[in-house]
Amino acid sequence: MQSCIKPPRMNGTVEMNIDGKSLEFPTIVGSEGEVGIDIGTLRAKTGAITIDPAYGNTGSCKSAITFIDGEKGILRYRGYDIADLAAKSTFVETSYLLIYGHLPNQTELKNFSTLLTGNQMLHEGMRYNFEGFPTTAHPMAILSAMINAASSYHPNLCCEVNRKQCFPNHAARLISQVRTIAAFSYRKAHGLPTVYPKSSLCYTENFLHMMFSAPNEDTVLKPEVVRALDLIFILHADHEQNCSTSTVRTVASSQANLFASCSAGVCALWGPLHGGANQAVLEMLEEIHQEGDDGTKFLNAVKNKTGNRKLMGFGHRVYKNFDPRAVIIKEQCDKVLAQLHVSDPLLDIAKKLEEIALNDDYFISRKLYPNVDFYSGIIMRAIGIPMDMFTVMFAIGRMPGWIANYKEVMDDTDARIVRPRQIYTGENLRSYTPMADRA
Ligand code: CMC
Repeated sequence: MQSCIKPPRMNGTVEMNIDGKSLEFPTIVGSEGEVGIDIGTLRAKTGAITIDPAYGNTGSCKSAITFIDGEKGILRYRGYDIADLAAKSTFVETSYLLIYGHLPNQTELKNFSTLLTGNQMLHEGMRYNFEGFPTTAHPMAILSAMINAASSYHPNLCCEVNRKQCFPNHAARLISQVRTIAAFSYRKAHGLPTVYPKSSLCYTENFLHMMFSAPNEDTVLKPEVVRALDLIFILHADHEQNCSTSTVRTVASSQANLFASCSAGVCALWGPLHGGANQAVLEMLEEIHQEGDDGTKFLNAVKNKTGNRKLMGFGHRVYKNFDPRAVIIKEQCDKVLAQLHVSDPLLDIAKKLEEIALNDDYFISRKLYPNVDFYSGIIMRAIGIPMDMFTVMFAIGRMPGWIANYKEVMDDTDARIVRPRQIYTGENLRSYTPMADRA
């Protein structure tokens, strides 16, 4: 079965009155009933543009990949509910679903897995790129640089025909190698010898193997740890037009190659308001713990906006009721810690913060709820992932979503380069003053 992109319904028009002139613009209705006003002809008709800083009201594209209803807390990949996928799917299967639009049959899944395994090794030349980084380098800096560096080993990426024909190979290469690069960067940062991937292991097992085995002794892979990390990858796999995905689409719109576009996505993800929030949450919890606070003092500072503090891991541009990923991850957090017999004081602080915040008018009135990053760091800490690798885990998970969005841009025959406009607020024309005449 092939996926189909349902053409949006053009359901009518809206009338706008600009400078006394009445203009009509068509509306577009998505397959879940969301309405957009198509203002594509606004500037040509009026000379005016719309202004929407941070794009809170702007639909940048039509997409058939992921649907979110922020008010109802709904998240679906290709029509499948996130809770259903979290309970029943694997990260590899979910990756296939996102990129190719349908759940794979047995043969498709086997072929996809074989392609991932066949592409898991990095070109040996890339070892020298790793050598160039100082041991203090943040793994996200290494990750984005190395993904871009990987493109230089595939010169055919730059030709449009090859870019399209070789897409399945490049997509598999990227999903597979992002995990290898991530593990190598951790080993490098900790002065540990590199451990190569093993073809007999599945995707997430292989990542844990490269992270934690020694060249002379394999780590023991606990099924509950493998499952927890696989679940984290599934929950992060796509999230429609977030900051990093729209960055990937913007870069892709210039017809840049897949590796360059996704490397830009890694950079956008790194910031603490986006994927970097998982590291920021743990830093915040550690700080609260070290100060002997139970969270009350910290939350007062947040509410009084003292020191510009935020409750990291709370709030979302789209979710205004609950983040369905956070519900699943909180449950998983309790389960994993119990299975591993880990008791973490930071989990107690997190729960206390959540309890206070959910009953506090500051957070209620602003519709601020825990997001996916609030509990994911506690799970990762319990399974031994160092804090500066948390956002890297997010990037591994998000890779199929970025790739699916890249493919959508590439397959769109109407696609144009992304090029927003601006309202200029600078100086009007002035003449150049020679240096000798300047005050
Ligand atoms: N703690 C305290 N106050 C907050 C928070 C927070 N985490 N988030 C938003 N607010 C306040 C904000 O100060 C503003 O208050 P006021 O009306 O008094 O000025 C109000 O709520 C509206 O916030 P906003 O900044 O306009 O919201 P936004 O949609 O622009 O930002 C956000 C969304 C996720 C960047 C923001 O909620 C935030 O910074 N959260 C903490 C960082 C975080 O957890 N990010 C991970 C997001 S989920 C992973 C992902 O997909 O990226």
